[in-house]
Amino acid sequence: MKKVLKALALLMAAVLVLACFAGCSGQSGLDQIKEKGELVMLTNAAFPPFEYVENDEVVGVDIDIANEIAKELGVKLTVQNMEFDLIVDYIKAGKGDMGAAGMTVTDERKQQVDFSVEYITSTQYVIVPAGTDTETFELDGKVIGVQEGTTGDVYYADDPDVIKAKEVKKYKSAIDAAADMLLGRVDCVIIDELPAKKITAQNEGKMICYDPGYEPESYAIAVQKGNTELLEVINTVLQRLMDEGKIQEYVINHS
Ligand code: ARG
Repeated sequence: MKKVLKALALLMAAVLVLACFAGCSGQSGLDQIKEKGELVMLTNAAFPPFEYVENDEVVGVDIDIANEIAKELGVKLTVQNMEFDLIVDYIKAGKGDMGAAGMTVTDERKQQVDFSVEYITSTQYVIVPAGTDTETFELDGKVIGVQEGTTGDVYYADDPDVIKAKEVKKYKSAIDAAADMLLGRVDCVIIDELPAKKITAQNEGKMICYDPGYEPESYAIAVQKGNTELLEVINTVLQRLMDEGKIQEYVINHS
């Protein structure tokens, strides 16, 4: 009897350990993704042409890329639209398989998540009301609108060593910030180049944008630290899409 109990206890311990390997880590290893049959992409769909909502559907360059990754894995793509500044925390916690959101690779983010190869280069742009002389426009002393948690927020508007803003107003999206600029609540908006150009084009005659000459930035896809299996698949697909000129094609399609 004692032997049987001992064997049972051992068996239970083994089951517990196995269950923990499979579930406790919160990792999105390839097996788990294939098992659930879906790749969960976290994004913030207020960033055209990379991700935006059209006819109630999230579309854009990052979605086109993610669809290719899902296809490679043989699973369906599920897009979760959320606040941009929570994406890194969610990926870190294993809530979602990858973050694809026109996300700039930064040293701070690299400590929280692992990044794929870089697939787009960009830079920060400034949106101002139409009629503004961009040659003489000064960011110092201005009320600046940004999307919260973006590089335009953290590394530019909110860093007094770079810009001595009068005030930095943080919005859930650059689209909201630009709308507030038209109401006179902020003097300008700082956001990435292509979204700035797209937002400006959608508000023709009301706003313009310009390049203030800041550092180039590169976008990459984020996964949970140590999830090398998924990262390898993402990198293979990204490299193929870049080699085939597909990413430029996606950008043109969504611009
Ligand atoms: N590239 C900037 C950053 O990484 C802005 C990204 C915003 N992306 C979005 N989908 N709203 O901080």
